[in-house]
Parts: sequence; C-alpha cells; structure tokens
Amino acid sequence: MPRPFLLDTDAGVDDALAIILALRSPEISVRAITTVAGNVEVGKCTRNVNYLVDLLQPPRRPEIAQGAAKPLKRALVTAPEVHGKDGLGGVAPQGSPSLPVAKNAVDVILERCALAEKKLTIVALGPLTNLALAWKKKPQVLRKVGKIVSMGGAFRVHGNTGPVAEFNYYVDPDAAHIVLNSGLPVTVIPLDVTEQVVLMRKEVEYRAKRRASTVARFILSGTRHYMQYHRQTEGFSGGYLHDPIAVAAAVWPSIIETKKASVDVETQGELTRGMSVAEFRRHSSQRKPTVHLATRIDREIFLRLFHERLWK
Ligand code: RIB
Ligand code: CA
Repeated sequence: MPRPFLLDTDAGVDDALAIILALRSPEISVRAITTVAGNVEVGKCTRNVNYLVDLLQPPRRPEIAQGAAKPLKRALVTAPEVHGKDGLGGVAPQGSPSLPVAKNAVDVILERCALAEKKLTIVALGPLTNLALAWKKKPQVLRKVGKIVSMGGAFRVHGNTGPVAEFNYYVDPDAAHIVLNSGLPVTVIPLDVTEQVVLMRKEVEYRAKRRASTVARFILSGTRHYMQYHRQTEGFSGGYLHDPIAVAAAVWPSIIETKKASVDVETQGELTRGMSVAEFRRHSSQRKPTVHLATRIDREIFLRLFHERLWK
C-alpha cells in the first residue's frame, strides 16, 4: 500500500526534480503539494507546481495549495540567480503566476495530518514557514504527522547562503527554530549530505537525448540555468540534488545514515543568521536530542533510483 506523502516546496529547479522523483515513485502516494516562498515568490511556486503536475499527469492528481508569501519575521530573500526569475530556469509557462487556489497550505497540512493518522510523511523542500504556522495554529493536529523530512542546514560544511547558513534555514530561521524545537519527529537532510552527490550536465544531456519525452526535455532545458550557476560558483558543470535527496531519504530511509541530536538555528545573529547548530555531546543535558540528523548517503543506490525514476 503506497505511503501517504505531502511535499512542501519553494519550487525551484531541484524542487522540480524532487517532485518528478516523488510522483514517479510507486512506493508513495503524493496526496498534496503545498507551496512556500523561498527560491521565488510563492505565486510563482504555485504556478510551477501546477505546471509540473500537468506535465507529469500522475494517476492520482495531488491537491495543490498555496502557503506563506514571506517568512515569519524576516523579509523574503529569493534566489533568482540560482533558479531563474521564474523558479524553473526560465522554462516556466509565461503569464500571471497567480492561480485560483482552493485552500491555504497550512489548512491542507493540518487536514492531511488528521486524515492520515500518524502515517503521513511531510517532505519540506523549502523554508519551514508553513510548518511553523501549522504548529502555531494547531500543534495537537500537527503532532499526528508520521514523520517530517526537512532539507536544510549545514553543520560541518560551509553554508550556501553566506559563510555558515544553508538557504532554507537562512530565509526563515525563526520557522526552523520553531519546528526543530517542537519535539516533532524531524529528520534533517543537510548540505553535509546533499553536497556528496552531483548531477553532471553531460549525464543529463546523454540521458535526455535517449528519452525524447516532454519530461526529459523539461529536465534538459529546466536545469541549464541551475547548472550554469554551479559552474560559475562551484567550478563544476552540473548541479546539486538537495531536494531529490530529501525525497529519496523519505521514500527509502535505508539509503541514509542518521544520528540523533538536538538541533537549533540562530535567529538573532547578524553574521550567523540561519546557522544550524547540532549538540552531539552525550553529557550535554541542555535539551533532549529529538532530531534525526543525516550524516551520510549511499550515493550509488540514490543515483540508481533517481535516474530510474526520472527518465522513465
Ligand atoms: O540550500 C538548498 C535548498 O534551498 C534547496 O531546497 C533549494 O531548492 C533551496 O530551497
Ligand atoms: Ca527547495
């Protein structure tokens, strides 16, 4: 029986690859996709998710709901230099991003938790604003979630948004602080793990040419800008797969190794805004370690599953 999933996304380019992976994984059933401001403004995220679901035509169309247009306290910081102004490397459908949206993301998150009674997995691919708002609104309902997997944080590697912060936790450090201290069953997939895997441009070109499908053409064209950014900033012609790794870790938990820790995020610092800090010291009695922090991924298995599903 496929496991119920909800994806919360700031539908950028690696989010799009993660959504394709999730919608093409028969082990799970993506019941809903909620959007949050991050890589781009939330209206564009919602448009991008609608475009991707139309492109993929999954047998069961997920409910799509729009969420927070800005972080809890901070001004929104976006990343057009990474994902393009439209969030999909310039290939999103033109025209106004605002779509009629039935329900708000926070209500959908809470409804899906209540419906699935401890079986729902939420994969958070962007800032944690929607989850923090759901916690503030009805904590007793959000506690019905089975598991939350959050792509975020950087612990023993430098940040990708300034020297010490990872983007998702930098954009909304207050939301990350709330969710990581809530005691909810959270698994964090940090840059320490996601930067262990790179998708090279040559591989995308090779595979896309062999699979002349609309999805393959989207992957080829939609990742071009994202990969050029990595060439300019990281020195390789390819791209990190942050969000697909978070989805894979939720679908196949055995491909990652985790350690329990108490994890928090800096919300006050100027230099250290969004910095994630893990307490591994056994004798430290400050706070109970409730977060499962990923420390390693089985690259080969992940890449096999990723390519098998992406190029179907
Ligand atoms: O730091 C990488 C994360 O921030 C990814 O989820 C990317 O899509 C952006 O949201
Ligand atoms: Ca993301």
